[in-house]
Amino acid sequence: MPAISNSAPAKIILFGEHAVVYGRPAIAIPFWAVKASCNIFARPDLEEPQIEFVSLDQAHLSPELQHNLADLMNYVVAIVLEYAHTRNFPASQIRVGSTIPLGSGLGSSAAIAVAMIRACTEFLGLVLDQSEVNKLAYLSEIHTHGHPSGLDNTVITQGKPVYYVKDQIIQPIMLKGSRTFVVADTGIPGSTSDQVSRVNRMWKSTKSVVEEIFDSIGSIAEKAKAILSNDSDASIGELMTKNHELLQKLGVSSPQLDQLVNSAINAGANGAKMTGGGGGGNIITEVPPQLAKEIESKLIAAGAVRTWITKLNSKGTSDD
Ligand code: PMV
Repeated sequence: MPAISNSAPAKIILFGEHAVVYGRPAIAIPFWAVKASCNIFARPDLEEPQIEFVSLDQAHLSPELQHNLADLMNYVVAIVLEYAHTRNFPASQIRVGSTIPLGSGLGSSAAIAVAMIRACTEFLGLVLDQSEVNKLAYLSEIHTHGHPSGLDNTVITQGKPVYYVKDQIIQPIMLKGSRTFVVADTGIPGSTSDQVSRVNRMWKSTKSVVEEIFDSIGSIAEKAKAILSNDSDASIGELMTKNHELLQKLGVSSPQLDQLVNSAINAGANGAKMTGGGGGGNIITEVPPQLAKEIESKLIAAGAVRTWITKLNSKGTSDD
């Protein structure tokens, strides 16, 4: 039995990725179908803590991914030690696992950080509130991605749907009714920091054009917030598709993401978009509940390597 055990969900950005880095609003929800976990076992027989990543359903990790994971896990322990004003972590085995596909736009790095921060601080006997966990997770995200908006660590720490504007007070969204989504994975990893840099280069070279795209994405997120919190019958699908088209203009979609988005729409979805940093990773599509299974099959036929049907209600998502 582990002495301490903690876990954190993945996340899905419903609206506003990339534009959120430049101060526009975004909406994100926790995604409980996949999660990261951290178990810590006291091991007085060891001379120093042993940190390992237990690949739960991602059997083959490339050497590069293994290196990135080791770097992330060591960094999180270092952040916790600094917070605790302690030099050494007690002799223990820190086992980190995740079922969140890595580099898939589902917030794997932030989820690993949040699960580890909670478990490691508890192991040291510290009690952190949500905002302290969030601050530490943000430091970890800066280490991993360079200039993150803070959206991923915030929604994952909160474990609730959020309407997020960088550097502003976090606003949970009270959702009306229940909506059904299908999430589909291209199976192709994308690098968030590469995509964020790509957008930044475009922003520097054609600032007014890119600012206009960001404004359009921001106003879509605002409209979606009004629908999600007031109108359980209206669909957000059309806004999702518009958001996807704007992300295409930013150059962060990919042929595989576009193919899944188009397949979902052709199969009767209300609308669809890529989610997260892009260049690969996942799409999310709002679907009429009775078509969810059929749309899921069509997405697999169109090349998705994994799919999830998920419902969104006032607490976030739950598996169907
Ligand atoms: O790819 P993910 O899951 O890390 O999401 C990145 C979201 C961006 O808006 C592209 C970056 C950010 O820091 O918000």
